[in-house]
Amino acid sequence: MSSAQRAARMSAERMVCELGEIENDFAIAVLEGLSKEKKSLPCRFFYDARGSELFEEITQLPEYYPTRTEAAILADHADEIAESIGDGGVLVEFGSGSSLKTEILLDRVAHHVTYIAIDVSETALAEAKARLGNRYPGLDVRTVVGDFSGYIEIPEDLSTRPMTGFFPGSTIGNLVPRDAKRLLAAFGRVLGRQSELIIGIDLKKDPRDLVNAYNDSAGVTAAFNLNLLTRINRELGGTIDEDGFRHEAIYDPREGRIEMHLVSTKDQTVEVCGRPFHFRSGETIHTENSYKYSLEEFLSLSMAASWKSEDVWTDADRKFSVHRLKWLKGS
Ligand code: AVJ
Repeated sequence: MSSAQRAARMSAERMVCELGEIENDFAIAVLEGLSKEKKSLPCRFFYDARGSELFEEITQLPEYYPTRTEAAILADHADEIAESIGDGGVLVEFGSGSSLKTEILLDRVAHHVTYIAIDVSETALAEAKARLGNRYPGLDVRTVVGDFSGYIEIPEDLSTRPMTGFFPGSTIGNLVPRDAKRLLAAFGRVLGRQSELIIGIDLKKDPRDLVNAYNDSAGVTAAFNLNLLTRINRELGGTIDEDGFRHEAIYDPREGRIEMHLVSTKDQTVEVCGRPFHFRSGETIHTENSYKYSLEEFLSLSMAASWKSEDVWTDADRKFSVHRLKWLKGS
């Protein structure tokens, strides 16, 4: 880095961290999260450029079964899903990223459909739009830059067409069940009358298999978790020694969730935005929840959010499930 670049970065950090005028989403979340009695950080901040790369690597790991298992389930039922989208239908993906799983469905769609990709990353949307445009010349691809948990607007000209939401990856598992229910209901309101939702849900299983999926032998998940500290150091002028923390993944059977933590390996004080944060040895930062459901639990959650189960598909080992739900409300 040149000294001019360093100076520019320093002043950007100062702007992000300036007392009294912190508006940066990441800065606010980190200062708040590290100030709590039980320290935590929101998992959405994992996905900077390096974090997104590491997550792609996670999806290829032998221990991380969800991605490949879900892809196989989608491929097995792509014809049924394509048919349910229907001629003139609109496929709306919440948090589309690279839209790779979408291709499994689009490969089997013979009729006219419109695909709306919603993501926070403009670059990911542009790449996906270009690639899908090439691969499916007749496909109408729209992109919406936004956070799927916020307010989403479907383009006006499509609002009367039949809508199918797509939310793969068991991403909803990051939310505590109350918030998961709220998000499902919000999807229903966005998609509207008669809409359907195709959603991937990771299932409860032997806790050893769950823990291995989040504590892989190659250490990729550990790097993914620790990258959050690298990001804090880089973007918020942090002084965190990454060797002072280690990755931990545990399964809490009462909550039915995997928890990821960064465990402080010593008594230490770190600085973020020029403020001190103390850690006792063994104290953790809770960085992610990944809820696992039984089929019954997920169906009762979706029912509570006014979605009715139309189809449930699983793999032979019942590791993962894909659901087709129908929105029950009249609007
Ligand atoms: C993208 C939220 C579905 O919870 O399995 C993978 C993220 N974290 N390994 C998951 C994740 C650690 C993943 N989701």
